[in-house]
Amino acid sequence: MRVKLIGITVALAVAGTAWAATVRDEPIQPLQPAKVTNPGKVELGKKLFFDPRLSRSGFISCNSCHNLSMGGSDNLKTSIGHNWQEGPINSPTVLNSSLAVAQFWDGRAATLKEQAGGPIANPGEMAFTHDLAIDVLQSIPGYVAEFKSVFGSSRIDIDKVTSAIAAFEETLVTPNSAFDKWLQGDDKALNARELAGYKLFKESGCVACHNGPAVGGTSFQKMGVVEPYKTTSTAEGRSAVTGKDEDRFNFKVPTLRNVELTYPYFHDGAAQTLEEAVEIMGRLQLGRTYSKQEIGDIVAFLKTLTGDQPSFIMPLLPPSSNDTPPPQPFAK
Ligand code: HEC
Ligand code: HEC
Repeated sequence: MRVKLIGITVALAVAGTAWAATVRDEPIQPLQPAKVTNPGKVELGKKLFFDPRLSRSGFISCNSCHNLSMGGSDNLKTSIGHNWQEGPINSPTVLNSSLAVAQFWDGRAATLKEQAGGPIANPGEMAFTHDLAIDVLQSIPGYVAEFKSVFGSSRIDIDKVTSAIAAFEETLVTPNSAFDKWLQGDDKALNARELAGYKLFKESGCVACHNGPAVGGTSFQKMGVVEPYKTTSTAEGRSAVTGKDEDRFNFKVPTLRNVELTYPYFHDGAAQTLEEAVEIMGRLQLGRTYSKQEIGDIVAFLKTLTGDQPSFIMPLLPPSSNDTPPPQPFAK
């Protein structure tokens, strides 16, 4: 795994120098297509991502809350978990999440692999245990054969499960947006309004936080720098991880890639529209009140960040066997 990851990094760095000469020098860089080094593992991870049998109810999969037909999110204010429980926080997109410094709004998981174990055992999400999820998978002959071919052993464990899911998630990048084409030198890729929006985004200081290839995900920042943010959410942000008071209300800066698809916005899902989110960001983070025209320009730019969505054949999940523990959809 580690060796392969390094392999990807090296490949990207080499590709980086190859196109560096033609790419515009901007605080945002074009997204590169995913390089798949182990297609069997990615395919297995895709099945697991779509498999509701990793949940206690047998009904909730990763895709329930990170719907790949809807920008990798659920488009709900906060997510719905086991037993229709109201979740505490907005579901961030899984698209391009491999590019982030850490996972979750407060960064409590360092890697995608570490993250992937969380929701299965979270009582408010999939409400299972790792042991029970492994029992289910181990009882399904189709999975046993596939784990054997990918990992060389038919003994399934949570480490292999999360490693396969992470390999699939690493392929969920969205290159070729209009903005990427402009970054790569195509002057016609943006219209006048979108370009004006980008200039305003850059010159007013949004790029201080929303930068890099994912237009975010590079740091933790305070929500409400100039003016405090009012919310009923109890999420305290980065301080939940570091224990430091100065990290209170610091959140991972979300990626703005595909932001047109990932409404509603902010960790509490309180902003319904992009216009609202941009207005709040300008005022709270930069002390700037934008005109309606300016907000429209920035929104037009943000919509150029929608790239090619992952497209693949729907995975067919191997059927349960007579030994598979039955799902418990209404278990408390
Ligand atoms: C019930 C809804 C739900 C399910 C099911 C679910 N997630 Fe999530 N996911 C969320 C929410 C909500 C968050 C944000 C939690 C937080 O930051 O505290 C999140 C965060 C994430 C993140 C971090 C993204 C980022 O930008 O920080 C990744 C990656 C992710 N989930 C992948 C998965 C995978 C893989 C599965 C299946 C094993 C899964 N999720 C199942 C709701 C869900
Ligand atoms: C000081 C750092 C900082 C600056 C400057 C900043 N942002 Fe943000 N932005 C954040 C953080 C942190 C969040 C997440 C806040 C939360 O969820 O509570 C965020 C969230 C967003 C979101 C919602 C994304 C989502 O998926 O929920 C949008 C849209 C956005 N910012 C746009 C902008 C625009 C446009 C500007 C310039 C007017 C800007 N930001 C300036 C740090 C910043």
